[in-house]
Amino acid sequence: MLIAGASSGIGHTLALQLQKEGATLFTAGRRQPEGIQSTHLVWDALRTGENDLSGLPDTLHGLVYAPGSIRLAPFGKLTVEQFREDFELNVLGAVALLKAAMPALIQSRSAGVVLFSTVAAKMGFGLHASVSVAKSAVEGLAKSLAAELAPYRIRVNAVAPSLTDTPLARNAGLLDDNRRAAADKRHPLGRVGTPEDIAGMTAFLLSEEAGWITGQVIGVDGGMSNLK
Ligand SMILES: NC(=O)c1ccc[n+]([C@@H]2O[C@H](COP(=O)([O-])OP(=O)(O)OC[C@H]3O[C@@H](n4cnc5c(N)ncnc54)[C@H](OP(=O)(O)O)[C@@H]3O)[C@@H](O)[C@H]2O)c1
Repeated sequence: MLIAGASSGIGHTLALQLQKEGATLFTAGRRQPEGIQSTHLVWDALRTGENDLSGLPDTLHGLVYAPGSIRLAPFGKLTVEQFREDFELNVLGAVALLKAAMPALIQSRSAGVVLFSTVAAKMGFGLHASVSVAKSAVEGLAKSLAAELAPYRIRVNAVAPSLTDTPLARNAGLLDDNRRAAADKRHPLGRVGTPEDIAGMTAFLLSEEAGWITGQVIGVDGGMSNLK
């Protein structure tokens, strides 16, 4: 199993869960994940041409791509360069890693791939233009690859979280004391997500129990995307 972005947030929680279940883990990212026994490949999604992925194994039963961004700003203040950077981190990083891992995934004859979108791809939210553009592309990538790779028994799905309590959301100031109660209340189920909420769905999608699920975008969002 290869997890990109296992040093923090959802990817880290997933790596801990899979480790407990006895999975052999490979991780990719700028930092070595703490508390995870894995073969770690130093890898920067924004420098796709410069990374050495020769340490990937011959066979991979799964790949999860967790690097992502929450850059919220009025459209007028977002620069084209910022759109480009969000696209590179969320989309092109995944493309590069998937291309490198493809022979090993095909070798497995039964692999699962999970990418991360956001509730803000399906729903229109102000200030979300850049992340929405990038994550909508992630959904397109997931569905297109699911079709192309089905003959190899590779399943590709995307998980679309709403606001989840991770370093990414905290560093963006979205869970500050003065915003937390409102953030909880916005969700029909009365709270923002936990990394465990999202990692649990991801682990399920990777497992054989999800062996007939592919090409789906699954909202794990406290009811945010479908309920009023
Ligand atoms: N948290 C939310 O509210 C929320 C909501 C909707 C969607 N999502 C999506 O869910 C996914 C996981 O988010 P999270 O909240 O768990 O984020 P996080 O806590 O910031 O973790 C992101 C991980 O990605 C890695 N990463 C970041 N930039 C990288 C780069 N340039 N190259 C390689 N690795 C990089 C980081 O590792 P290193 O720093 O070690 O490289 C880190 O392990 C993301 O795709 C995010 O967009 C999150």
